[in-house]
Amino acid sequence: MVFSGSQTKYPLDPTLPAPLYFQLQKMIQKAIEEGRLKPGDKLPSERELAKTLDINRLTVRHATNALVNKGILVRKRGLGTFVAQTKINQGLFHLTSFTEDMKSRGLKPATLLLSFAIETPDLQVREDLNLLQGEKIYLIERLRLANNEPMAREISCLPYPLFPGLKETDLEHGSLYNLLREKFNLSLGRARETLEAVAVEKKEAEFLGIKTGNPVFLRERLTYTEQGQPFEFVRSFYRADRYKFFFYLER
Ligand code: GLP
Repeated sequence: MVFSGSQTKYPLDPTLPAPLYFQLQKMIQKAIEEGRLKPGDKLPSERELAKTLDINRLTVRHATNALVNKGILVRKRGLGTFVAQTKINQGLFHLTSFTEDMKSRGLKPATLLLSFAIETPDLQVREDLNLLQGEKIYLIERLRLANNEPMAREISCLPYPLFPGLKETDLEHGSLYNLLREKFNLSLGRARETLEAVAVEKKEAEFLGIKTGNPVFLRERLTYTEQGQPFEFVRSFYRADRYKFFFYLER
């Protein structure tokens, strides 16, 4: 066990200025960094840890709570406390697709088509996509998976006039961007994206395999072709427990 053995018999030192809960927190983090505890591993129970380390159970709880709040540990009701899955650390600098993002990390992307319809857009989408009144959109809902685990749910709006003859079967697997490139000769240009935190709703939560009310990142992207024509408005709900985004700032 990670927390036993001669070197760790009494590894916490009450004479140090750092409080015991903090020392334990660091000890758990170190075990994760060094690979002695891996994503999905179960931690010993609070009682066991308190006994092994000769500390109070409340101190253990204090340390594990702090790590749960940081997303490093997860508690599963009735099952115990586990090491969280490592997050996908994604920089937002380039216009890439989900498929490319997953493949570049050595993960296997997959897509589940949830719905496909031809609809009238609301005013905002109509304006964003430069559509005339009466022109329709394809409304496409997809669940995106990496190594069979749900990562995001995406609702894409594509202008019907730009992609005549797009079929449901075209979208059942694989990359939307590849399909548009191959079938409609589309070249990607740029995108405007917003990122905000929202609490996941019941339907979303079920698809993503997380609890209702948990946080998700809502990314809204308006994507343009190389010629400057808007061709996609998409709302993507990314699991906040599996994603971390980063940006570079300069001055
Ligand atoms: C990302 C973006 C979406 C975009 C999608 C295309 O997930 N957030 O806005 O629609 O990539 O990915 P793919 O070509 O794999 O379908």
